[in-house]
This record gives sequence, C-alpha cells and structure tokens, in this order.
Amino acid sequence: MTKEGLSSGTTRRTFLGAAALTAASYNRVLGANDRIGIGQVGFGLIGKQHIADFKTQKDVDIVALCDAYAPRVEQGLQYIGNGTAKGYSDFRKMYENKDIQGVVVATPDHWHALLTIMACAAGKDVYVEKPMTVFIDEGKWMVQAARAHKSIVTVGTQRRQGAGVKAAKQVILAGTLGKIHNVRIAFCRNIYPGFGKTPVTDPPPGFDYDMWLGPAPKKPYQAHRGLYHFRWFWDYSGGQMTNLGAHMIDQILWLMDAKGPTNVMSVGGRYALDDDDGETPDLQDAIWEFPGKNGGPGFTMECSIREASVGPQGLNPAQLYLGTKGYMNVSGNYSITSETKVNAIDDIPRFQGHPIGGPVYPNVPRTPWLPEYAGAATGRGGGGAGRGAAAGAPAAGAAGAGVATDARYGLTASGADPTMVLNERDWLDCIKSRNRPFCEVEDGHKVATTCNLANMSLILGRAIKWDPDKQEVVGDKEATAMAAGLRRSGTSRAYRAPWDAVLRSIVKV
Ligand SMILES: NC(=O)c1ccc[n+]([C@@H]2O[C@H](COP(=O)([O-])OP(=O)(O)OC[C@H]3O[C@@H](n4cnc5c(N)ncnc54)[C@H](O)[C@@H]3O)[C@@H](O)[C@H]2O)c1
Repeated sequence: MTKEGLSSGTTRRTFLGAAALTAASYNRVLGANDRIGIGQVGFGLIGKQHIADFKTQKDVDIVALCDAYAPRVEQGLQYIGNGTAKGYSDFRKMYENKDIQGVVVATPDHWHALLTIMACAAGKDVYVEKPMTVFIDEGKWMVQAARAHKSIVTVGTQRRQGAGVKAAKQVILAGTLGKIHNVRIAFCRNIYPGFGKTPVTDPPPGFDYDMWLGPAPKKPYQAHRGLYHFRWFWDYSGGQMTNLGAHMIDQILWLMDAKGPTNVMSVGGRYALDDDDGETPDLQDAIWEFPGKNGGPGFTMECSIREASVGPQGLNPAQLYLGTKGYMNVSGNYSITSETKVNAIDDIPRFQGHPIGGPVYPNVPRTPWLPEYAGAATGRGGGGAGRGAAAGAPAAGAAGAGVATDARYGLTASGADPTMVLNERDWLDCIKSRNRPFCEVEDGHKVATTCNLANMSLILGRAIKWDPDKQEVVGDKEATAMAAGLRRSGTSRAYRAPWDAVLRSIVKV
C-alpha cells in the first residue's frame, strides 16, 4: 500500500493539468472482459459500503481511495485489502492517476457537484452519491460537464432498481389503478431530544477541515459540522428532504414518468428537537403539483418528515399511489388494494334523511373496482378503504408477498433486491457499453431539483412556481438566486474561493 498526501491549496493550473493528462490516457470503450479501475473519494458510512460492494465485482480493481480525514484513508486501505490501492488526502492528485476509469463520490452532499464536474473534466466516469446537489444550478453544471466530456454519470438514488419496482411501473403503465392523482410519502422517526450540541473546537488531528468544507462557506469547526452529522446543516445538505427524499422521490418521478413539478409549497422548521445544534427541519410538510401529459392536472405529491414523532404506523406508508380504482403501496415490492365503487349519492351524510327536495339514497351496494385486489377493500370511501392494508399485510393477489418492515423508518421493504449493488453494476456495465445508466445524471438533477424546491419554499415561506422545461423558477428573483446557490448571506458566488474559479474553468455558470 502506498500513500500520497498533498496540501489542500488548489490552483486552476494544477487541476487542468490533471484533466489533460487523464482524459488523454483513456480508451473509453471497454470490452466485456476488460477491468475497470475505481478510485473513491470519501470513506465514511456509505463509502465503506461502496468498497464492500465493489470488492465483490469480478471486473473491478479498487486502485485508489481518498479521504480528508487521514485515519480513514489508512483504515480504508486496510479494508480494501488488495495491497495495491493507493491512498490520497487530495482528490486532485488522485484524479491524475491514469489507472482510474471510474470515480466514486461518497463525500457529503456539498462536494458532490464539483467532485463530479472535475472528474468528468479529468476524463473519468462517475458514480455520485445522492442527493446529487445542494442547490439547483449545480445539477445543470453536472449535466453540462457530463455531456461535454462524454462521461457516464450514475447517481446513487438506487431505489428505482429492483424487480418489484419495475413490476410496479408496469401496473401504472397498464392503468390498473385508474387515474393516479396523488402520491404520498412520509419519513417519521423519534430522535427527541436530538443529537446534542457540539462546541467550537479544533478539528481532530488528521482531519483537513478546509478540504472537507471545500466550496462551502468557512465556518468554525464543531464535531457536528463534520463526519456524518453534516446532513443537518444547510451549508452541506438539505436535511431529510434531500437525505431520504432523494431515494423515494427518484422512484416516484420514474414510476410516474414526471419531468418535474410546476408548483411547490413546504412548511416546517425546528419545532421539537431541543438538545441539538442542527439547522434543517425536524418537521416538514411539502406538497408538489405535477402537470398532466396533455397540460391538464397531473398529480400531487405529499411528503411528511417527522424527526421527533413516529406516530401510528400508517404515517409511514412507504409510497402510496392513490388511484381512482385502487391504491398501490410501493417499496422494494408493491401491493395493490382496491377502492370500492359507490353510487356517489350513497356517500353523503344521512342523519335523519333529507327533507323533501333533498337527495334520495338509492342504496346501491359497494363493489370493488378491482375484484382481484379486493381482499382489504373495506371501510368507507377512498380515505378509509384499505388503510389497514397499507399499515399491515399487503392485499392478496399483489406481488407483495414476503414484504417485511424496515425498522429504521417503519417503511415496508422486501429487502429482496440489493438495489445499491444493482445500481453500481449498472454503472459498471454502462462504463463498458457507453449506454445511458438507469439512474443517470439528468435523473439525479430532476430529483434533487424537486427536493431543493421544497426546501427553498420552506426557507422563503412561500410557494414557488417552477418551469420544468426551461428549468427555471417562475417570477421570483429571490428564489432564482437561491437556485443559483446564493442563499448564503453575504455571498455573491455559489462557491468559496478558490473552488469557484475551478468550477468556472470547466463549466459555463
Ligand atoms: N445511497 C445510500 O443509500 C446512502 C446512504 C448513506 C449516505 N449516502 C450519501 O453518501 C454521502 C456520504 O454520507 P456518509 O454518511 O457516508 O458521510 P460520512 O460523513 O460518514 O462520510 C463522508 C466522508 O467523506 C470525506 N470527505 C469529505 N470531503 C472530502 C474531500 N473533499 N475529499 C476527500 N474526502 C472527503 C469525509 O472525511 C468522510 O470520511 C452523503 O451524500 C449521503 O447522502 C447515501
């Protein structure tokens, strides 16, 4: 094992030199039997999982690992355990390594865009973790860089992978559920009173905090502004909306074949956690409107986030697709529950009956819209029908057999398909074939935009209109500036120096 450390000071010349060298070194059309050299940036919670996964892929050589925290480089090299991988403390030096074809970006969110853009410019293909961006324009720059350098860029949202979800897509395409007009998701857990508060201190030995901060604003170090807990600070992430939302919303946009929302509103904030120094909401509700294919109403999507209350199991219904004839609960697998058909007059209040001239009840018996999924179709009207099925066993007849409860978030998940490995494998195959990956950079951009718009609405305290074709905020200068990354007070640039210049040297901002 060897280790090459560099200081974190950057210059445009250093980086562009690396780009020229590496891009020229690669013949990017590989054969089926060719090996793929991987270099990974970030060896944290998910970075370790990536290494574990890539170790199982027979055509992969893990050739390099970089982390801003030196002890993790050492630990990571031992974990890779092949005796040949090189360790780096500066990713720019790692990007010069011509044995690397694919870069895995497993750092905090605020680094995803620039690391991807620089890797593309260095002639690499990229697997970038979700959420793809911290603000909307980063996604446009990433697409630009990927296209300009013909890089294969996969995004680690991964939840559209798996046989159950692909089958659910067929259900939607077949129109089985009738008109799907609402999709609901929720992420509820109880971590009250919170993660505690961390004082301002020096970073731990071996932690290059300036490199860790990278393009983000310079702030004094606290333990929570670092490993893992960065998720709860706006400068580095978008809270659970982007952390968990990115996975689910990718699945929804894919299943519903949605380009993007046109209208977004979100409320919430720090309501409950009182021993915690995070900033992102512990309670958030968001609603998005998506247009229909022919310009008419499409569907709405609702997301509830609770960090200090699990509530009844029904609050965590995985993903509910509410159609006029039935609803589907999608996770790793799916289940379908029929709605009941009713003569509308029979569904209005009865009390003592209507005086003369009022509606007359024909008392037509309810029947299931979808008899084959009628097992759990009980209750009164759409709201009540099948509630029990969503919280418990899936309806008979659906492909939901074997669905288990995921204890972390109370979601149902089959656990049958290793979605992350499938996504990684898809990336490797596309590196060879140069085909479009299943979760491609443009998909990641759509998802991140959807999540980021909700957070923007919450911060601004108003609804935001969005044009998914032009990818622009409509009629709101403040929101437009936020989409460009200018939400941090006092900044006129999206990125802190010197990273802003690096960005601008590669893409048109
Ligand atoms: N796909 C999934 O299921 C999944 C699951 C968990 C996390 N994630 C995503 O993975 C990313 C990382 O999350 P995590 O929990 O592993 O975080 P983490 O804090 O545990 O690890 C991140 C690592 O990146 C390193 N790092 C930061 N900046 C760096 C730089 N410039 N150069 C080199 N190393 C740098 C840190 O030192 C740290 O070791 C997040 O974006 C998160 O959303 C995805």
